[in-house]
Amino acid sequence: MNTGLAYALAQTRIMVVDDEESIRTIVAEVLGRKGWTVDEFSSAEAAITALERERYDVILTDINMPGLSGMDLLSQIKDAAPGTPVVMITGFPSIDLAVEAMKIGAVDFLSKPFKLEELEIVVRRAIDGARSTGDNPESAFLRFRPFDSKPEAARRRLEDKIKELSILHTISDAISDAGAKEDIFRKTMDIAQIITASERAFIMVVDQDDLRLSVSASSGYGCDSIDNERFSCLEEPFATVIKSKSYAYVATDDPALARLMGPSEGPISRRPLLLAPMTMNREVVVLLGLTGSFGAGVLSTDTVSLLLNLMAKASMKLENIALSENVFSSIVGAINSLINALDARDTYTRDHSSRVTRYAVQIARSLGSTQEIIDSISFAGPLHDIGKIAVRDEILLKKGSFSLDEKEVMQSHVIRGEEILRPLNLMQTEKAVVLYHHERWDGGGYPNGLGGAEIPLAARIFSVADTFDAMTSTRPYRTALSMEVARQEILRCSGTQFDPEIVDAFINSEIMKGR
Ligand SMILES: [Fe+2]
Repeated sequence: MNTGLAYALAQTRIMVVDDEESIRTIVAEVLGRKGWTVDEFSSAEAAITALERERYDVILTDINMPGLSGMDLLSQIKDAAPGTPVVMITGFPSIDLAVEAMKIGAVDFLSKPFKLEELEIVVRRAIDGARSTGDNPESAFLRFRPFDSKPEAARRRLEDKIKELSILHTISDAISDAGAKEDIFRKTMDIAQIITASERAFIMVVDQDDLRLSVSASSGYGCDSIDNERFSCLEEPFATVIKSKSYAYVATDDPALARLMGPSEGPISRRPLLLAPMTMNREVVVLLGLTGSFGAGVLSTDTVSLLLNLMAKASMKLENIALSENVFSSIVGAINSLINALDARDTYTRDHSSRVTRYAVQIARSLGSTQEIIDSISFAGPLHDIGKIAVRDEILLKKGSFSLDEKEVMQSHVIRGEEILRPLNLMQTEKAVVLYHHERWDGGGYPNGLGGAEIPLAARIFSVADTFDAMTSTRPYRTALSMEVARQEILRCSGTQFDPEIVDAFINSEIMKGR
């Protein structure tokens, strides 16, 4: 950097006000590295005191702070030094607050989480905005004229910002609604294409093992699909984007990228390609690509800023999914340890649980149940008797009949099972399998004596499967009944122990086909 430019940059003073130290520090660090002089303040009160003796060229302030809020600070700055550009930092996408701030005179806003490139774009835009209205950022603090002082320009700018805020709101809604990772990728691609009005868009998934990128979704390529096309992570322009974890907007005529760029009219010429990364655990996992023609010809900094916001939100959602998957697999791991412990005491339960689950899925299919019911049975089935872990050996392994007390302890396994699994936050259908698989159609079962359709469907299905397997398995105290005898017994109990409709589904299921 030449010394004249370095001096000019250092003369530009930026105030950062945020009660969150981590945000303040990172913002100050990033802007400081660009050569600007940055002062940090942890409250609006401290900022106001500093403003009495110092001038600032740009002020970035959080909206929500204890004591005076960012909105209070904005009002005071607009009274004392109306020309100073103020950028609001919003912790949540609140359109109302941001619009209010723009009406009072904020020039821009950053919605957390924001990308660092977005921060720089917003600050530069604020400085340039002050210059374009005739104010010199190096001029004295109180000599600033009101930002966008012409009413028409101010109104247009406010309209643009409201539009931008609505888009941000839509982005937040769409991304937070997305469930699976593929859903997030697809939605990100669709929104990015709308924001940039780009002709074509694609999603590339990074394979960390073989350092390849493969296109998992694309749009705008017509029947000339590029899905499953593969590229190397080590080739440009991908390598730079992956290494720097920031976006690249390039013009290319590289024949190796011809398929990605899509068909072109006339001779091959340099065409724009925007690549933006999506990260998870600080690793680039996906690249979003935009190419072909863009609606406005070139992308404006506002559009890029929106795009980066979209990528930040998508990355955050991916992080959340990874986090809950981690927590979930830790809990499932712990539960599996419990199953193993139970299996070690009573070897019958291990094979029994997996067989019953398989039978129950077959009955559910025969009944034409929804995928949700089938998934719930598949997940909760292996755990249905986990409560037996709390039953003492002399009862659990007893070969003769139970006393009344012993029976009560044995029957408590359904309630204990539900208690053990509670931290998993099971879905209602899954919980029903564990808690109600010993309820009876005629109301004579346990734990609650529910009857008929009061018993959740998944539990009614499970009950038939459970009894069928108990009859057809060899136990230490009796040999297995034949399939036919078991079938007759299930039929006999239709309408008393079991839901007749489910008995019909059982009779017509795959289980009985092979007998
Ligand atoms: Fe059971």
